[in-house]
Amino acid sequence: MNDAKISLHTSDIVMEFQYTIDFATSMDARDPLRNRRSEFLFPQHDGRDIVYLTGNSLGLQPKGAFDALRQECEDWQHWGVEGHFHAKHPWYSYHERFADGAAKLVGAQLNEVVMMNQLTVNLHMLLMSFYRPTEKRYKILFEHKPFPSDHYAFASQATLHGRNPDDVLVEMQPRAGEVLLREEDIIDKIQELGDELALVCFGGVNYFTGQFFPMQKMVEASHAVGAMCGFDLAHTAGNLPLKLHDWNVDFACWCTYKYLNSGPGSVGGAYIHERHASNPDLFRLAGWWGQNKSIRFQMGPTFDPIPTAESWAMSNAPVFNMAIHAVALQQFTEVGMEALREKSILLTAYLEFVLKEVVDQTGVQLEVLTPRNPEQRGCQLSVVVPGATKELVGQLAQRGVVVDWREPNVIRMAPVPMYNSFEDVYRFGLCLTEALKH
Ligand SMILES: Cc1ncc(COP(=O)(O)O)c(C=O)c1O
Repeated sequence: MNDAKISLHTSDIVMEFQYTIDFATSMDARDPLRNRRSEFLFPQHDGRDIVYLTGNSLGLQPKGAFDALRQECEDWQHWGVEGHFHAKHPWYSYHERFADGAAKLVGAQLNEVVMMNQLTVNLHMLLMSFYRPTEKRYKILFEHKPFPSDHYAFASQATLHGRNPDDVLVEMQPRAGEVLLREEDIIDKIQELGDELALVCFGGVNYFTGQFFPMQKMVEASHAVGAMCGFDLAHTAGNLPLKLHDWNVDFACWCTYKYLNSGPGSVGGAYIHERHASNPDLFRLAGWWGQNKSIRFQMGPTFDPIPTAESWAMSNAPVFNMAIHAVALQQFTEVGMEALREKSILLTAYLEFVLKEVVDQTGVQLEVLTPRNPEQRGCQLSVVVPGATKELVGQLAQRGVVVDWREPNVIRMAPVPMYNSFEDVYRFGLCLTEALKH
């Protein structure tokens, strides 16, 4: 057995991890968040909870989801159209329920967040406001291998503005032989693009490698050359504590079905810094839900935007998926991102330790792509499994373990602090060892 001392950069804790069930369960017993697990519904395998390590793809269902949906159905049955004002949570102002929780989640002010649409739609809406190319300043810098939807969004926005995407899109490249991007290279690139750079738009955490980018430094460097800086927080919101307002981030968007456990395709979120949100002259696509509330129902032809992020909301609230988000977001508000992060650092460090044990026991040289430094990652570890095919995921599934697969031979795992346990990580190690020996 490999008794490794793991020094955690972000805290003074030095742990002596052990690859035993007793150690894992003793960690769970000491976990202040351990009771949260019972608030979720786990798919079953052979009569027990599966080891679910794909919260980075689709989070598990909070037990309160069903009742929240039933409440809205009952209110609809009882009130009909009057539910807009008389439902338990009136539908007219439904999205306002989220301002406090969403603001806490991403480190924003109440007037800087709004829940609406879905992620790629929100990215486009924000690009309509924040990508305003000029003759000289028109380039968009984004991360190496972004989530493809972002790439398509950037390219189509370039086309919308009558430009050739090949001239506009600048994909940040890692150094030869490396997969991660170095902080100094990102900053150098921003400076190099200088007054040609209109926008820097990265994922906060890259979906493939799990690398967490130095958001604040990127904002500072972008602003120093006169560019905007925004983030796709699909893999960051609910995963890492954020301070979007203090970091001066211009805009951001996120989905709620991954770390935020709000169900498939659930409502997205958007953040717009106050200095932009309160500026009526900044272009935004207009719809009636962004209209000044005191005159919205006068049904007049002139758009008078609410001087907050809410003015980006074009349509009335999609109550049914928001109902589940309300349950899930409440859990984050209660626990807080700091407590989640504290557990997450340990849980992911334990996963890293267990992977070393698996290497020792199988001889398969697993390679962790994700940064080793906890400050440069969230929950997720992405691991190259030499020689593996997608069959490996099937082998794990047969043993009651769910991870996700990315071609050509990468498994991504995210032990999430809200509901995963140290025992989950231990059991994952046993099953991966068996599957690799199979
Ligand atoms: C980083 C990232 N961006 C964008 C998307 C697309 O999200 P949506 O389908 O909600 O627009 C995803 C989906 O997984 C993602 O991981």
